Amino acid sequence: MILKITDVKDPKLRLKSKPVIKFDKKIRQLISNMRETLIAQKDPEGVGLAAPQVGKSIRLFIIDYRKEKKVIINPEIISVSKEKKAPKTKNKDSILEGCLSLPHYYGPIKRSQKIKIKYQNLDGKLVSEEFTGFIAQIIQHEIDHLNGVLFVDRILEQKAPLYKFEGKDFEEVELI
Ligand code: NI
Repeated sequence: MILKITDVKDPKLRLKSKPVIKFDKKIRQLISNMRETLIAQKDPEGVGLAAPQVGKSIRLFIIDYRKEKKVIINPEIISVSKEKKAPKTKNKDSILEGCLSLPHYYGPIKRSQKIKIKYQNLDGKLVSEEFTGFIAQIIQHEIDHLNGVLFVDRILEQKAPLYKFEGKDFEEVELI
């Protein structure tokens, strides 16, 4: 079932999410629906989706980026690299960060290039894993969602520009 993705103005996106306690059928169904919802996003496409974005204030998110398909439950940051920068593409452009709760808006956000987290998988098993580059950026974006933080907060904090992508063009816009 494709779920409705909450809009950036929804106060639910500002809550601190609660830990997942039961690894039951209900949670599996939610994850399956979240996967279906994420894959269905084409304009724009998404690479991650956090439970608060579908109205569930629980500590869980999924990633679907190329070969990296993950379910991350109750994540805790073990360590992050100190140096923060906006990841670059091969032609040295900054990868702009966006969010399905605020579609078509993007900005270059500096994130730690390495993050080590521990989390639980779908079976409740504790895993620790290190991520680098773009995946590390996605993880930081999604963990922010679980804490009620949105990428536009990071834009403000870092005084980074915000762009709206319409048609074929990026236009710099003011953050209101
Ligand atoms: Ni997001």
